[in-house]
Amino acid sequence: MSNVGQPLDRTDGLLKVTGQARYSAEFQVPRLAHAVLVQSTVPAGRITRVDTHVAQAMPGVLLVMTHENAPRLPNGGKPALEPPAGRALSLFQDDQVHYNGQPIALVVGDTLEHAQAAARMVRVEVAQQPARLDFETARADAHSPGKVQTQSADTTRGDVAVGMAQAAQRIEAVYGTPMETHNPMEPHATIAVWEGDSLTLYDSTQYVSGVRRTVAKTLGLSPDKLRVVCPFVGGGFGCKGSVWSHVVLAAMAARQAGRPVKLVLERPQMFGPVGGRPRTEQRIALGAASDGRFTAISHDSLTTTSMIEDWTEPCAIVTRMLYDTPNQRTTHRLARLNIGTPTFMRAPGEATGTFALEVALDEMAYALGIDPVELRLRNDAAQDPEKRIPWSSKSLAACYRAGAERFGWARRNPQPGSMREGNTRIGWGMATATYPANRSAAGATARYLPDGTTQVESGSQDLGTGTYTVMTQVAADAMGMPVDRVHFSLGDTRMPEAPVSGGSQSVASVSPAVQAAGAQARDALIAAAIADASSPLHGLAASDITVADGILTARSGAREPVAAVVARHGRPIEATAKVQPGEEKQKYSMHSFGAVFAEVHVDVDLGVVRVSRIVGSYGVGRLLNAKTGRSQLMGGIVWGMGMALFEESLFDTRYGRIVNNNLAEYHVPVNADVPDIDILVLDEADSHINPLGAKGIGEIGITGVPAAIANAVYHATGRRVRELPITLDKLI
Ligand code: MOS
Repeated sequence: MSNVGQPLDRTDGLLKVTGQARYSAEFQVPRLAHAVLVQSTVPAGRITRVDTHVAQAMPGVLLVMTHENAPRLPNGGKPALEPPAGRALSLFQDDQVHYNGQPIALVVGDTLEHAQAAARMVRVEVAQQPARLDFETARADAHSPGKVQTQSADTTRGDVAVGMAQAAQRIEAVYGTPMETHNPMEPHATIAVWEGDSLTLYDSTQYVSGVRRTVAKTLGLSPDKLRVVCPFVGGGFGCKGSVWSHVVLAAMAARQAGRPVKLVLERPQMFGPVGGRPRTEQRIALGAASDGRFTAISHDSLTTTSMIEDWTEPCAIVTRMLYDTPNQRTTHRLARLNIGTPTFMRAPGEATGTFALEVALDEMAYALGIDPVELRLRNDAAQDPEKRIPWSSKSLAACYRAGAERFGWARRNPQPGSMREGNTRIGWGMATATYPANRSAAGATARYLPDGTTQVESGSQDLGTGTYTVMTQVAADAMGMPVDRVHFSLGDTRMPEAPVSGGSQSVASVSPAVQAAGAQARDALIAAAIADASSPLHGLAASDITVADGILTARSGAREPVAAVVARHGRPIEATAKVQPGEEKQKYSMHSFGAVFAEVHVDVDLGVVRVSRIVGSYGVGRLLNAKTGRSQLMGGIVWGMGMALFEESLFDTRYGRIVNNNLAEYHVPVNADVPDIDILVLDEADSHINPLGAKGIGEIGITGVPAAIANAVYHATGRRVRELPITLDKLI
């Protein structure tokens, strides 16, 4: 019987609910000192004077680090690696201020309170320079990033003008999404501990190996002098996918203070110096023949970035692959502002891009008088229209049908405002969900111990997603052990290297490594039994022996517990595997797909929107754990509701501050906002994607949801909202 696929409870659940799971800020280190960041209060300028005398003389203050006394870094602290692996950081190497909120000093005290008190007394004078805070001005001066991720910023296929001329119906509109900010429960946190010239970082990160590489390069250390530890992450969502200034500053301060230093960002400090989703402005032009077939699509995306780094939200990439059309154009442009550099935020590109594209499709469905599901079915791409290669698997048509069936879509009267209850209008909308199925190289070690248990490890991360649990299941199957005798560890650069827990790729990358290491260790275990004269399996053929439930069994019926074999062996039996994707990546286009159906209730007097029902139906390959998998998808859908209705980092265009930099004013969905969420995961076999047949599910859940809700709001009210979030002022 397979453990993979079972709805196993989280193996780390007990540790979490009893407070024993140790997060980065909770490591106990002797002589630990506490650091507090001081941030710029102006958006642009040059620091002319720093007065730290008062702060330095305060009780318990160990160090006040500014650009005047910070250690000089190799290369002037410039990005050690190409972005986004190496970000443009603020490491106190110069006097320039690039955005409001930029770290400009760090105070270290013997207690947090001493550091906080002294941080308020650091006086910094800045000669202000003109700041660019206005989106209209920045737009007028937009530039091309050249590339977005690994793809070119612009693509053309056929001729959009010709396709639009052929169209029976045309839609052209601009769609917008605001700056948004990640709000994981656990803020960024780093503890830096030097022992001689070796550094250990306890850091809340999605990528322990990436932190090691980037920090080592930035400080001019050999990577083998740096260890990064992160057994638990209280939410990442992309903001912990790259190294930000505070991580390096903690290491610099610990060296300078001669003591271990802990730096935990306060909630307001999460808004600016550690990324966020940029504002997007997306122009979509869509042409269709009267039968609904698209004759042309263009998607031109403009997003904001900082003065110090180009970071592009790849909004239009999804349009390159989602629907088949002979004529297409996509572009990405960047508008610079004096803001913190944006970054990956759950489904970067797809979350924002599907909002624009899928609302445009709804507009087209109304223009043509074709049902929105039917319109999508008619334009379903049989192969990847951009790469001209087959899909590794695609269940999108089945997702539309299964989701529509579950939702009751067939009963929908398309007329806006056709469903009412008193002064409440009810609307039904839908949209397509999609996200790439990524995979990278990963390693793992699997080990049978003499006590009959196993240890399996990979230098991956668990962001709260269920990595511990799923890898335990994969290892149990590969090693022939019950899950309760598998101990899976992660989050340490001493373990075999694994990729960033981002891009929804952990399961697809790390599972094959765990499976391979487990299988190799199992083969070594069988070989040890065969070679052992005391074993009842001695001298048998390896191909005749299986391992299941902790017991080796031969075809002859001879059997012996795993523990007995390893105990006589006298030492652990282990194997390390490193695996990577092969040429299947070139042969097949790999994506997850889904369909989202939403029901909203809109109060026509007050403009309040309540989501009353959501059905999400997905084809994501093989689901390794039905319970944690459902939670992942549900979490994404809940965030999609936040994106549709609540989330917006409000930017003050006079001073460049995010003014709602707290959880009271930056609204995210709470339980009272979240309705029954019905999630269907279709059976989908994908033999090309990876040995487990699993596509990632970390990000697809958010995609399509904002559009489905916006489309439902239109159906309820006849009001087409193209600018998120859909707040009540846009409806009354
Ligand atoms: Mo995710 S935004 O790729 O960490």
